[in-house]
Amino acid sequence: MSPRRPYDVAAIRALFPALARTLPDGRPLAFLDGPAGTQVPQAVIDAYRDFFVQANANSGGDFPTSRAQAAVEDAAHRAAEDLLNAPKETVKFGANMTTLNFQLSRSLARSMKPGDEVVVTLLDHDANYNPWRLLAEDHGFLLREARVRAEDGTVDMDHLRSLLGPRTKIVATGMSSNAIGTINPSAEIVAAAHEVGALSVLDAVCSAPHYPIDVQALNADFLLCSPYKFYGPHAGLLYGRLELLERYGRYKVRPAHDQWETGTASYESQAATTAAIDYLAWVGREFGDPADAAPLSGRRGEIRAGLKAITAYERTIARRLIDGLQAIPGVKVWGITAPERAAERTSIVSFNAAFATPDTIAAHLGAEGIQVWSGDFYAVNAIESLNLTASGGVVRVGLMSYNTAEEVDRLLASLTTLATSR
Ligand SMILES: Cc1ncc(COP(=O)(O)O)c(C=O)c1O
Repeated sequence: MSPRRPYDVAAIRALFPALARTLPDGRPLAFLDGPAGTQVPQAVIDAYRDFFVQANANSGGDFPTSRAQAAVEDAAHRAAEDLLNAPKETVKFGANMTTLNFQLSRSLARSMKPGDEVVVTLLDHDANYNPWRLLAEDHGFLLREARVRAEDGTVDMDHLRSLLGPRTKIVATGMSSNAIGTINPSAEIVAAAHEVGALSVLDAVCSAPHYPIDVQALNADFLLCSPYKFYGPHAGLLYGRLELLERYGRYKVRPAHDQWETGTASYESQAATTAAIDYLAWVGREFGDPADAAPLSGRRGEIRAGLKAITAYERTIARRLIDGLQAIPGVKVWGITAPERAAERTSIVSFNAAFATPDTIAAHLGAEGIQVWSGDFYAVNAIESLNLTASGGVVRVGLMSYNTAEEVDRLLASLTTLATSR
């Protein structure tokens, strides 16, 4: 890697054609809706299109387009392995995280007997809660739920540890909250799971766009994420320790060669996922600190340095947003807000206001082209834990690698106008 230059958000934005979209009156759209799915660089669009022109065949044929398909599939798996620092052949593509997690949970049922326990947290997206809740219901397992501390939106780790014991067989936790941005101590949770002989499952869906994920450093047994959250297409990724994938893979048709990738895959999405991961590597080459790549090298190091550059940048605009929101009378920002705890949160920032409901605020901002989500974002238990279900949840602002300080200022100005009009 050559020495870095300062993070250039204009150069990044130039790669994403959708960011040029405007309202009919010419005002630019501000894409602050990234945690529900990011925009994609042109290379992702090109990869998708190129697949259909060059490689649109099923797998295993002895003819040119099927050979091209095989190359696409191989490249995508190598890219996903580089993204997660995963050993070869341990990453599987699927429809999305939710579908993969239902498949994983059903497959792991074979490792358990009635009365065994699964531990989850109440901070997480329902895709990392309900598959385990339904599994427990179907097989006579016990679901144990770690509480959220409402003061700072963190998982109560003492409570989580108190739930672990000889009957615990699976500990399934999010790496960071899609609702309020809290980063969980995942390596610590994995170690605690292993101490009692349980398997760990990590939901990295809304972490993967914001900071490097290293399954080897985490010592994770399973990890899931979704390319459409990190500048790629709609798809899902599952990492599993090789011996576990081999032991528990089951739900496939007989001629299929893979235990986990069922049916005909979306190879076009695999092609586009490679391009999304290459975007993260490009950020690393352009703006990453070579020291941040260590101990990894090649594309793995570039991705790591790229995501570290993205973390540092997003932290600056998230600070600006949190400070600005807290300066508006009647606004309450959820989760971790203290500057000295910036490393414990991502740039997903959620808030409420005394002067309007979350839906009203999102509609007001949306009318000005400032795109944010309101509600619970499927983090049903997290919103319930904060006692916000009846009042309509929160407003969520997701700051991604392509968002700007100007967009933050626009949002703050628009919210101030709404506050003073009421
Ligand atoms: C933290 C988290 N986990 C899981 C999911 C579900 O992912 P998918 O849409 O790929 O099923 C989401 C989607 O928003 C999420 O944010």
